[in-house]
Amino acid sequence: MERKDLREQIRLSWNGAVGAHDSHRGDLSGVLRAGGSTLFPEELELLGDLEGKTLAHLQCNSGGDSLSLVLGGAAVTGVDISDEAISSARRLSAEAGIRANFERADVYDWLETAARRGRRFDIIFSSYGIVCWLPDLDAWARGIAAVLTGGGRFVLVDFHPAADMFDERWEHASAYPSGGERLLLEEGVSDYVADSGGGLTPAGFVEGERDFKNPHHSYLFQWGLGEIITALAAAGLRAVALKEYPYVNGERPFSAMGELPGRRMVPPEGVPAVPLMFGVCAEKA
Ligand SMILES: C[S@@+](CC[C@H](N)C(=O)[O-])C[C@H]1O[C@@H](n2cnc3c(N)ncnc32)[C@H](O)[C@@H]1O
Repeated sequence: MERKDLREQIRLSWNGAVGAHDSHRGDLSGVLRAGGSTLFPEELELLGDLEGKTLAHLQCNSGGDSLSLVLGGAAVTGVDISDEAISSARRLSAEAGIRANFERADVYDWLETAARRGRRFDIIFSSYGIVCWLPDLDAWARGIAAVLTGGGRFVLVDFHPAADMFDERWEHASAYPSGGERLLLEEGVSDYVADSGGGLTPAGFVEGERDFKNPHHSYLFQWGLGEIITALAAAGLRAVALKEYPYVNGERPFSAMGELPGRRMVPPEGVPAVPLMFGVCAEKA
């Protein structure tokens, strides 16, 4: 698996942004301690019953979702490349009094090592800003298949590649993503938690760090939906559900988005519906 240098740059950029993101989250540990959850209905539906399941949460970021999965009954291992994200997840776990295992690693290395060591999981889960950080879908899908138990499932909820065709003002400005084309993100990972205006902070929005500037640039990789599903199929993962949703949970990637109950962001009136998120559940035979 090449492009380690790019993934290391991505790690630096995430390390640069996690503190700003966390500064807006308020008393998230209190919400979790009281039995609240950061998960949305879309992933819960695809995940199904979690009770007694072993679950690897890949690209887990600061661990809010990982701990919510524990509350749902799963034994969770969260994995992320960012040192700051994993430290933050461990802190949140201690503050909330909810046990999960957090491991700092590049997902490609982690999958390879886990498979070699015979580690197996009933469920692998990833969500909201995942595929765009991956330079190689085939290695990723093969790695996931290798650590799933027979009959186990992979659940992914992510932003729909079709949304990348539009600029902030909903103009059709870019080609449909394909081929993993690399994009330089000069400004690095942004403070999208602040930009979401409370959509990503179930404990309430705290002003926190203002005018955040990331000192580290980053990269993105552009993949189409067909390429994602084909990589999973080639690895022996059969899609049993593929959903497309005309709204975004939590984030506000475009201007003038309306908000429906449940922190569901929709295009403004006059903009025809377009898929903005997708969800897949794929099973290993
Ligand atoms: C947008 S976040 C995912 C959101 C997350 N589900 C949440 O609940 O906040 C993307 C995460 O992917 C991680 N990441 C990016 N490249 C990675 C890699 N090669 N291996 C592991 N994690 C990676 C980043 O550090 C970041 O925490």
